[in-house]
Amino acid sequence: MRTTITVNTDLTAGTISRHLYGQFAEHLGRCIYEGMWVGEDSPIPNTRGIRNDVLEALRNLSIPVLRWPGGCFADEYHWKDGVGPRDGRKRMVNTNWGGVVENNHFGTHEFFDLCELLETEPYICGNVGSGSIQEMQEWIEYMTFDGESPMANWRKANGREKAWKLKYFGVGNENWGCGGNMRSEYYADEYRRYQTYVRNYGDNRIYKIAGGANTDDYGWTETMMREAGPLMDGLSLHYYTVPGGFELKRPAIGFDEAEWFETMQQALRMDELITRHSAIMDRYDPNKRIGLIVDEWGTWFRVEPGTNPGFLYQQNSLRDALVAGLHFHVFQRHCDRVHMANIAQTVNVLQAMIFTEGADMLVTPTYHVFEMFKVHQDAEALALHLDTGEYRSGSEAIPQVSVSASKRADGTIDISLCNVDPIGEAPVGLRLRGLTGTPAVSGRVLTHADMNAHNTFERPETVAPQPFDGVSDITPEGLSATLPPMSITVLTLRF
Ligand code: AHR
Repeated sequence: MRTTITVNTDLTAGTISRHLYGQFAEHLGRCIYEGMWVGEDSPIPNTRGIRNDVLEALRNLSIPVLRWPGGCFADEYHWKDGVGPRDGRKRMVNTNWGGVVENNHFGTHEFFDLCELLETEPYICGNVGSGSIQEMQEWIEYMTFDGESPMANWRKANGREKAWKLKYFGVGNENWGCGGNMRSEYYADEYRRYQTYVRNYGDNRIYKIAGGANTDDYGWTETMMREAGPLMDGLSLHYYTVPGGFELKRPAIGFDEAEWFETMQQALRMDELITRHSAIMDRYDPNKRIGLIVDEWGTWFRVEPGTNPGFLYQQNSLRDALVAGLHFHVFQRHCDRVHMANIAQTVNVLQAMIFTEGADMLVTPTYHVFEMFKVHQDAEALALHLDTGEYRSGSEAIPQVSVSASKRADGTIDISLCNVDPIGEAPVGLRLRGLTGTPAVSGRVLTHADMNAHNTFERPETVAPQPFDGVSDITPEGLSATLPPMSITVLTLRF
């Protein structure tokens, strides 16, 4: 069936916060250590310990916000162990992730340095599970208080005179699980107490993010909104795409079409989850002041053979790229409520942007989607109507094409399209309502003939964007395009 899309070029559906393109980097496996931090004495070229190749690749993504230090790690992290002279920092066990030694060489100062180098906003997650209110209060004071105080003085003694600006702060992580195994009622009370001491010093204003639900735990959202809604700015949601489920995770490579279908179907579930969590939030917060913060999402496969099971290192294929594209379309459709999203995780862990091996680095298919879609950041979402066929597997079906369109401040329109069908191309008729002139259209496509295609250190360009030449019949009323099977396309319309 021919897909028909009507884009209302003069009708905004809300602003797409650039924070939907956020990242998450945890002290897990080789994400922070090796992947980002190599230390000042490393033979790998670095800036104050942070590797230059990764910095350069990440800068190209215009990352708007970076979440750190966890994840589960956050609720066992004691920030005081990670400041001061590095040689004297405490060594601890990373109990969540492989039981390896954490030497605390990457701490608060190094994280803010990374954010400054990336020109990204920091999003710090505090420790509720095994920390104390005093510890959290003092961290905020250490980071953001500019006057005379024990913590501000300590920061200065450690080399940072001026307070940092910190907006995003999470009060714990997955407090229903690794963050303390709490009941929602208990955590709601804990949240109320802890957040009291997350102070605004000077003109620094903190956007407080409460620990939210796992997947479809709507009861958690209900309790949090009822008991603590007025005391939060954001409420998180975590959902992973895990074909086979957490107990029977499937390999990242070597999958067949049935697994491809299951993966796409699971990725699209994000739409239902956001719709239903938002419906609960709407009852308590009809003006949508509180953001739904999807601060962990992405694929979770079996670890690569021979790697530490606690390091969560998995390959990244064209399939992951489609998962990313589908998620962005869902987030953008819900941009009135979803104010931030952070993929898990930036380097070498889960659905990563980047893999490193010693001094080598490559970018993954997922990286390319973040790069191609960055045109949507802070643009106006355009209202559209999609009529597409089905991609079927047995008795199950999902929509073949997914789409999102946005308008930049200078009037340029960007339209991203995913064709999830691994066999059928998708002929598309795109109607552009509200235009007066004929646009100049350019495009790029990310695709491959093999659904398992991925980038390796030997062949790092196997999956990379190419110019798209499938557009025809361009008029002020619209255009036609033929999307290759299993592809992600971004069309740019200039006037
Ligand atoms: O991203 C990996 C882990 O997944 C995080 O540490 C945790 O929050 C989630 O369960």
